[in-house]
Amino acid sequence: MVASTASGEREGWSSRSAFILAAVGAAVGLGNVWRFPTLAGENGGGAFVLFYVACVFLLGLPLVISEIFIGRTGQDDAVGSIRKVAEKSGASGAWSAFGILGVIAAFLIVSFYSVVAGWVLYYVGVMGGDFVSALLAGDPFRGALIGESQEAIQGRMGDLFASPALLLSMHLAFMGVTLFIVARGIGSGIEAAATILMPMFFVLLIAITIYGAFVGDMDEAVAFLFTPDWSKLTPQVMNTALGQALFSLSLGVAGLITYGSYIKGASGLGPTSLTIAFADTGVALLSGLMIFPIVFAVGLDPAAGPTLVFQTLPFAFQTMPAGALIGLLFFILILVAAVTSSISLLEVPTAWGIGEMGWSRRKSSLIFGGGAFLVGIACLLGYNVWSDVRLLAFWPLFAELDILDTVDGFTGKVMLPLGAFFTAIFVGWKADRSLVEKMTGISGIWLSVWRFLIAWLCPLAVGTILITGLFPAIL
Ligand code: PHE
Repeated sequence: MVASTASGEREGWSSRSAFILAAVGAAVGLGNVWRFPTLAGENGGGAFVLFYVACVFLLGLPLVISEIFIGRTGQDDAVGSIRKVAEKSGASGAWSAFGILGVIAAFLIVSFYSVVAGWVLYYVGVMGGDFVSALLAGDPFRGALIGESQEAIQGRMGDLFASPALLLSMHLAFMGVTLFIVARGIGSGIEAAATILMPMFFVLLIAITIYGAFVGDMDEAVAFLFTPDWSKLTPQVMNTALGQALFSLSLGVAGLITYGSYIKGASGLGPTSLTIAFADTGVALLSGLMIFPIVFAVGLDPAAGPTLVFQTLPFAFQTMPAGALIGLLFFILILVAAVTSSISLLEVPTAWGIGEMGWSRRKSSLIFGGGAFLVGIACLLGYNVWSDVRLLAFWPLFAELDILDTVDGFTGKVMLPLGAFFTAIFVGWKADRSLVEKMTGISGIWLSVWRFLIAWLCPLAVGTILITGLFPAIL
């Protein structure tokens, strides 16, 4: 439960597959099951989806390799790892500043991530209660929330948002679980959680997708997700797709630097990173194939926005066979995905506190978990008592947003792409080439391809999208 074992050795994963499972757990989260379907729906489906997949493999994958390379080589927290790679490469230690950026971004993200996961927890409660009453009525396979009108079902979210106490208790419970796992450390905390939760997640995902294929409108969902209408691919949509690719792969916040630093022994980073990227993208697409058939079957609007899974789906579950049960399982699935991601987010500042400040794991996780809890409170009050607060009122892009959306937007549109940009420049131009070759285990033609992507394509694409995203007026 402390930063290192009694012998002073740093913590680590028990095996390569343990690392992959934890990294996939970090990647697969609200981003896949909630944000991706929301964005695909809002941005018109096909063209967005295909551009997103291109971003994952051309920009995301090279960055995944780069972050893990830094952590694996540095064997330290994000800042320390960058500093060590810089030292070994004869570059300035000032590069470690982008590690600090990542630590701050991870801290901010986990604060609102826990609030959103709290909504999911609330819906687990709602659907759980409903399923219990179905059981008691001797009808376990009935639809969800029978007898409630569409307005009443959709009104549940408004009731939740209007109640600071309810939002707060859900946020507290979720952050408490996150903190508990992180405080236990890498082996008996994060690795143990991923080992239990990720298989559970995959079983649920596949089961509900098969269910959706039977009772829902799979043809329309497939057409919606994969038929591109290129006229919908505006610069704003591209920007959103890239931001989503970075967020979903957990890039730009030093998450994979931190997780990579717990890899002991040799590891070919090419196949490892490819596995992470495939799993993450596969889950996003499967989530779309899980959600949209159900949405289309009852003729609901795919572009409902962030409330899609909270307001649209529970209503859809009403008319579906076994909707009460499937609805409950659906929200449990999202919750499980959220836990394995939130622990990776909290681990970034926690590792920083251990590595740079010399704190114990327990102290560091408590400070950052507690701090993120407080920031999260501000986010949730933004839905009720502080609903007119606009944190970045002077900045047109963020001027209209409530507190949570401001923190989400600022981290996602500014901090994450900046982190990714500096990672690409650092690894593409500053890191010692033979060190890179040795520590990634990538060579030959693949090394040249990866080098081109990380040194040229990533900085150019991420930089362009960052600038056009931040200053839409120049387009
Ligand atoms: N990738 C996670 C998701 O899709 C979110 C996340 C971002 C986790 C950054 C860690 C770091 O939900």
